Amino acid sequence: TKILVVCGGLSHERDISLSSGHRVEGFLEDAGWNVDVHDMDSDLLDYLSSEDTRPDLVWPLLHGANGEDGSIRDVLEMAGLPYVGSRAKASRTAWSKPIAKNVVRKAGISTPHSVTLPESMFRELGAGKVIDLLVSSLGLPLFVKPTMGGSALGCSLVTSADQLPQAMVSCFAYGSVALVEQAVEGTEVSVSVLDIDGEPTILPPLEIETPNGTYDYEARYTPGPTEFYVPARLDPKVLRKVQDAALTAHRSLGLRDISRSDFIVDHDGQPQFLESNVTPGMTDTSLLPQSAVAAGLSLATLYSSLAESVLA
Ligand code: DAL
Ligand code: MG
Repeated sequence: TKILVVCGGLSHERDISLSSGHRVEGFLEDAGWNVDVHDMDSDLLDYLSSEDTRPDLVWPLLHGANGEDGSIRDVLEMAGLPYVGSRAKASRTAWSKPIAKNVVRKAGISTPHSVTLPESMFRELGAGKVIDLLVSSLGLPLFVKPTMGGSALGCSLVTSADQLPQAMVSCFAYGSVALVEQAVEGTEVSVSVLDIDGEPTILPPLEIETPNGTYDYEARYTPGPTEFYVPARLDPKVLRKVQDAALTAHRSLGLRDISRSDFIVDHDGQPQFLESNVTPGMTDTSLLPQSAVAAGLSLATLYSSLAESVLA
């Protein structure tokens, strides 16, 4: 049985994806699988259809646009190949943070108040008017993020109104629509869900504590300053609540095989949904692998069981 890991690609998260892909390759090989890696480019279709290279299973580890917006999964569906992870349609739903927030809110999970703002409207109205509208409707502090994106690229925490124009400009460098969301105070927690043999495995909630309160690109991929706690330092009842919320997000978004949902647990112990990731990072500083290891699982065994479960 041959597994093809597809990673790299041309999104802003290319480097992270290469790292995730090679880490998963290593663990699958440790578990005895025959694994190839393809740095995604236009010859992927030839590769998938040639008799010499056609794999039995594909594991798409592309982060960001193309990887998580459903397009690679459309290609794999057309090629008739089994693959690890959510279908194209569910990926597209989860990839849009405002759409995902709506779906998950309708399923009964709280999510911070937010508005979306296209760049064209920001330019037409002007920064002054936009600041007034946003601050009067949402208050401060706020998070400004691209509606679609990953690894916190283009995201800023805004604590005073004069920081908003710069935050908007940074956001629009990564996408044409901004999600402006209330920055809820509380504990940042991430929960991974894996479907193995028809049963959901909900990993223990992982708590993220950063030195300056924002889990930005640097805090994500520089080992050291960010502290992780697994399980999160929360009341056992709250831990269960956030695990239930992650499962509700996974199911209501129609996700499959693997997902990681991110929350702020507010001071009332209420999980506030931020987003779900269909291709959670698998680097050595990423969250899902840390939760699994802390739960006493071996990554070789976990990834191997997931591959087997998809092939079954
Ligand atoms: N977008 C990065 C890879 C993550 O969610 O882990
Ligand atoms: Mg994300």
